[in-house]
Amino acid sequence: MTKLKWGMIGGGEGSQIGPAHRLGALADGRFELAAGALDHRPEVGREYAQRLGVAADRAYGDWKEMLQGERDREDRVDLVTVATPNSTHFEISKAFLEAGFNVLCEKPMTVTVEEGEELVRISEKTGKICAVNYCYSAYPMVRQARAMVANGDIGKVRLVVTAFSHGHHGDATDADNPRVRWRYDPAMAGVSGQFADCGIHALHMASFICNDEVETLSADFASCIASRELEDDAMVNFRMSRGTVGRLWTSSVAIGRQHGFEIQVFGETGGLRWFSEQPNQLIYTPVGGRTQIIEKGEGGLYDEATRLSRVAIAHPEGFPMAVANIYCDLADAIQGQARDSLPVAADGVRSMAAVHYSVDSAKQGGAWVDARPPMFR
Ligand code: NAI
Repeated sequence: MTKLKWGMIGGGEGSQIGPAHRLGALADGRFELAAGALDHRPEVGREYAQRLGVAADRAYGDWKEMLQGERDREDRVDLVTVATPNSTHFEISKAFLEAGFNVLCEKPMTVTVEEGEELVRISEKTGKICAVNYCYSAYPMVRQARAMVANGDIGKVRLVVTAFSHGHHGDATDADNPRVRWRYDPAMAGVSGQFADCGIHALHMASFICNDEVETLSADFASCIASRELEDDAMVNFRMSRGTVGRLWTSSVAIGRQHGFEIQVFGETGGLRWFSEQPNQLIYTPVGGRTQIIEKGEGGLYDEATRLSRVAIAHPEGFPMAVANIYCDLADAIQGQARDSLPVAADGVRSMAAVHYSVDSAKQGGAWVDARPPMFR
């Protein structure tokens, strides 16, 4: 099997998300790391890329050099991952899509709704994939939940309740630490702090499992640590297009919660529950029946879950393997097999719209507002 060629921008040594991409992309032997501009310091990036096995002429100092170097090569990369800080995603993704590359962009895809809509249009026009790394949606048991909802196993969905709440920024004495402070500084983070950082994973997950879109929302934002300009806690109520009621809580001051990402989906004939800290289990309760634990790797799962399970039942698979599943879907899509489970630019712009309109709603005391980007109204 010929391996797809993969290039990476950002995700340099010591970065948070870079290792998960490398473990994920290389896990199944479908991609090889062929090019990279890995660091904001050109020499550091070049040196690290070569240490990872990238040829010297494809270990670039910055993304513009990489675009120049790759665009006319016969063996140009099939996919470019953008794992840089948020404010750079749009410019880099746009340039590579327009030059005919497939892109996997980290979340949040853009900073504004307009930029997000532009990436949707460019992806449609060029026919190139613009995927977004909503990697939690790629855990096998999240795929199982989605398939169960699609197959009517819990009946019509009434209610979805989700939280992505941790306590890692809950120490007021640490609020001025530069690694923490920028996340709540509008000049660095944009219009939203915690909701744009973690809440959008939960909102995307609600849409993903229910296979439905958020239409309206009402938000309450709070800065529990008063020196913060942006919210460190948010409660967002929403409604989906088929009437499903949604509740979302996201927080970074919930001391004692570690990762704290969970979702419950309640239908007319049953309920489902998944928690990111126990990702191999999906809890299912049929109406009037006993609660069951459905395990990754067991018999009788839907294909969508089975095809993404690498090791046998009860052996743990974690976060990098969820990222690996995004790369599996990408490899299939690049090789011509459509994968509607792959989060794409339309999902990215829906998140950006939800962030911006939540800010508007919160400023209006929680007024209900249209949550959809203008292009999808
Ligand atoms: P980080 O600050 O730990 O690392 C950023 C890396 O990008 C560094 O290696 C830096 O040198 C490099 N870099 C910065 N500007 C660059 C440029 N112009 N060209 C090339 N390299 C550049 O950041 P982290 O936490 O890894 O986040 C990166 C992105 O990944 C963010 O957008 C973040 O929201 C997202 N992320 C997504 C997660 C997920 O669950 N999908 C989890 C963590 C982060």
